[in-house]
Amino acid sequence: MKKPIFIRNANQIVTLEGSSSKPLAGKEMDQIQILANGSIWIEDGVIQFVGSDEEAAELYINRLQEADIFDATGKLVTPGLVDPHTHLVFAGSREKEFGMRLQGATYMEIMNNGGGIHATTSATREASHQTLFKESRKRLDQFLLHGVTTIEAKSGYGLSLEHEIKQLEVARKLDEKHPIDIISTFMGAHAVPSEYKKNPDDFVDYVINEMIPEVARLKLAEFNDVFCERGVFTPEQSKRILEAGLKHGLTPKVHADEIEPFEGAELAASIGAISAEHLLKASDKGIKALAEKGVIAVLLPGTAFFLMAESANGRKMIDAGVPVALSTDCNPGSSPTVSMPLVMNLGCLRMGMTPAEVLTACTINAAHAINRANEIGSLEKGKKADVTIFDVNNYMDLQYRYGVNHVHSVIKNGEVVVN
Ligand code: NIG
Ligand code: FE
Repeated sequence: MKKPIFIRNANQIVTLEGSSSKPLAGKEMDQIQILANGSIWIEDGVIQFVGSDEEAAELYINRLQEADIFDATGKLVTPGLVDPHTHLVFAGSREKEFGMRLQGATYMEIMNNGGGIHATTSATREASHQTLFKESRKRLDQFLLHGVTTIEAKSGYGLSLEHEIKQLEVARKLDEKHPIDIISTFMGAHAVPSEYKKNPDDFVDYVINEMIPEVARLKLAEFNDVFCERGVFTPEQSKRILEAGLKHGLTPKVHADEIEPFEGAELAASIGAISAEHLLKASDKGIKALAEKGVIAVLLPGTAFFLMAESANGRKMIDAGVPVALSTDCNPGSSPTVSMPLVMNLGCLRMGMTPAEVLTACTINAAHAINRANEIGSLEKGKKADVTIFDVNNYMDLQYRYGVNHVHSVIKNGEVVVN
């Protein structure tokens, strides 16, 4: 039996209470629930109480002896951060390409010359389960130190049935062995591998007829993502792949309008995707369609920063009523970071989001983007006890003192995992 944990005297608790049924959109993203001088009682891995210090003291007066007491004086307590878009499992590293980009080469040029995703695919195909496990576990440890308690992880560096399954199996094993929960997305359509360069439609058929059915049969993923981008997969090919996934119970996600406007947002809305991700170049029509259908925009300001591109227009999307989530996009090419705190800073400084909006985007809306809002993403009775405690006074301070990891402690499933 785990000991109960009693967090008390928190300067602020961002609860985000009452937002589990649908993602927060428009003004709701800024109007977050904040409790001053609050307490949380955690038992059996679940939140049993969130409320004022006085009420907690009365309720639990006879049980203080049996609990681990966490004094959160002067601290900010939030739901465990959720990262809804990562490419966690890969081998190798691409710092040489980073150097080339600093000299003026573009991301797509590097990819079209056999580098980029292709380079990581070669390294990942060569790597054993064990190597992939070890390298990815290191990243997970760093995620945890940055306050993240759940992540989504995409495959897409195998690009063949055997190696896509290998990546997804490693993700499943990491989910079992590591405190962080991992939700898997199949992304066999991440690039057309070199062996199909001359006949990309044959690769699309292979994804549809062989990969998707097998991944679904093995229950290795819940979502199906595709890189819909000029020179990668067309909107038509992407649609076929996403429809095939739907037939096998995989919910669509789309890497949309990252490098060029390509009607990716429109596709995500028309197919009923849970999220459209990137959206740096999304059209006004696409943004309107996302708002109308309630598709979550998963925005990745770290990627824009690292690619030296202009960020997605988060401000415009929120004002248009699109529910926005934020993510690191952790991957070896366009965003080799694990820092959700930095992503929040960039959300404020480069996308015009408020400190409250970025917190919503990294907790409850991120949980909605991976279909987990019923169990994580807010601090309320009955939810999983995933909690991040920051050594800052308040939620504004967290963004104001930017570029620093202010995480003090992390509780995952009712256990202190960082302290
Ligand atoms: O989300 N854009 C496509 N996929 C990744 C990058 C993958 C890579 O460069 O290895 C992204 O940015
Ligand atoms: Fe990505």
